[in-house]
Amino acid sequence: MTEDDHADRNRDRWDSIADDWMARGEAAWVEEPHWGEWRIPESDLNLLPSDMAGRDAIEIGCGTGYVSAWMERRGARVRAIDISENQLETALRLQSEHGTDIEFVCGDAEHLPWDDESADYAISEYGASIWCEPSAWLREAHRVLRPGGSLVFLGSHPLCNICEPLNGDLPVVETLQASYFDLHHQDWGEEGVCYNLPLSRWFEVFRDIGFVVEDYREPRPTSASPERCEQATREWAVKWPTEQVFKLRKP
Ligand SMILES: C[S@@+](CC[C@H](N)C(=O)[O-])C[C@H]1O[C@@H](n2cnc3c(N)ncnc32)[C@H](O)[C@@H]1O
Repeated sequence: MTEDDHADRNRDRWDSIADDWMARGEAAWVEEPHWGEWRIPESDLNLLPSDMAGRDAIEIGCGTGYVSAWMERRGARVRAIDISENQLETALRLQSEHGTDIEFVCGDAEHLPWDDESADYAISEYGASIWCEPSAWLREAHRVLRPGGSLVFLGSHPLCNICEPLNGDLPVVETLQASYFDLHHQDWGEEGVCYNLPLSRWFEVFRDIGFVVEDYREPRPTSASPERCEQATREWAVKWPTEQVFKLRKP
């Protein structure tokens, strides 16, 4: 089995588990912005401009759409894409319950349906950032951003990925299980395909595409964070990074 069909397999996976993500999405739509598995408050990470009035924002791999809702609340005109119809069904129901006006579209983030230079701000939280081939989705985000526009994305940290037991059991362990330098995709069969790169390779991809790196963060859980997330215990994650955030700009 190769990862060539990752988009189809990831869509099937997300269609089949969408119901499990409904409650989390419903809650997040009305909460203050917080990020990642450890629910780090926006005040610590500053991923969203506080005033997005009149700005065109896109969310890439939006799931139930709560990040899009947070951006619209800040004044942005928002478009959002996801490959799973079932995830978008939840997003559209929440949109009608909350009276927002986000343009949700079903499609593959490696082939964005939007015009060149039509967005000021792009974000992905565990969306395209981990489920799409890095060069493919980043090239598309770069195409759609206007010069001066920002791309922010959050996903798993490569150190965490290489501590995942090879049989797929979680949480991550305290010994290295896989090659760091060979990191590109992890194929979990019917559970889908995820992507990550060694840090030097991420920077190479950004350079090749034409992004400038403005910031890099490794969110660390606090005592207010949950005891366990899907990948790791909090005890592990206060010692080693489970997540990373890149803040990029298209010059
Ligand atoms: C974990 S959700 C991300 C949404 C939200 N921020 C969250 O953390 O719950 C991952 C989403 O990525 C979407 N996805 C996976 N592959 C995709 C692709 N090729 N194009 C667009 N969306 C994709 C899935 O359908 C799923 O809804």
